[in-house]
Amino acid sequence: MKITVIGAGAVGATCADNIARRELCDELVLLDIKEGVAEGKAMDLMQTAQLEGFDTKIVGCTNDYAKTAGSTVAVVTSGIPRKPGMTREELIGINAGIVKTVSQNLLKYSPDIIIVVISNPMDTMTYLALQSSGIPKHRIIGMGGMLDSARFRYYLSQAMKCSPNDLQATVVGGHGDTTMIPLTRLATYCGTPVANYLDETTLAKVAADTMVGGATLTGLLGTSAWYAPGSATATLVESIIRDEKKMMPCCVLLEGEYGLKDICIGVPVIIGKNGWEKIVDIKLNETEMAAMNKSADAVRSMNSVLSTLSI
Ligand code: 2OP
Repeated sequence: MKITVIGAGAVGATCADNIARRELCDELVLLDIKEGVAEGKAMDLMQTAQLEGFDTKIVGCTNDYAKTAGSTVAVVTSGIPRKPGMTREELIGINAGIVKTVSQNLLKYSPDIIIVVISNPMDTMTYLALQSSGIPKHRIIGMGGMLDSARFRYYLSQAMKCSPNDLQATVVGGHGDTTMIPLTRLATYCGTPVANYLDETTLAKVAADTMVGGATLTGLLGTSAWYAPGSATATLVESIIRDEKKMMPCCVLLEGEYGLKDICIGVPVIIGKNGWEKIVDIKLNETEMAAMNKSADAVRSMNSVLSTLSI
């Protein structure tokens, strides 16, 4: 079993680290366009193998897609990350060309591959990867909802002074500061509604903090985050590789589900060996559906920029 990670920056390398530690494959290929970077990070990671006790072989390469041949899953992190003050959407001009070329190259060497997109603006990049590769819809998954939901649980756990592991909380909609929808009504603490413990103002603040969770980290770090994105991605990849059929909020193509069509956006899906296998209807109420429609409008307007780019 082979897994490829495209992009050996902080997010890509952390994904590779998490995937190797979980031993999700025999061979992990780390590819970057910058000469020597993927080779260096692969060697550094391999030097942790004995210390961490994993047997996954990590191979680094500079833009050599032949090395990715026969991959079951590829994680695409390539493109530029945002800087403080930037939105994810501002990256579209540069990242669109990169994501298109990367998806086409991956497919050339691994026709059955499942592609997990992380590059931003993620919802639009997932849509672009799907359109430009012609790959069946179940094999293109955007990773955003898992990360946003982990951040939602973090902020909830801070407010409740409880363990994030005792919380269930989901974020749907777009992976943008204004487009994501933390579902506070459905969040639970050991099976009981969090609204039993937190007042409306606190819940609204938790939701607002979640929405700008990535931007807060970018402000602190000077670039976008990597530990939680790497971990969320490895958790998604694990559900594919081990065919766990876990329900995860992911960005997938909707064809009428949630009343939306011709758009990739975050909804709860079942993740297994075939990629995303089923969209789950979690019965949003009227207010949540209105937020979903507003989020979809914003994602669509970003998608429409694709046709103005010469890629
Ligand atoms: C984030 O929210 C990288 O978009 C990613 O941190």
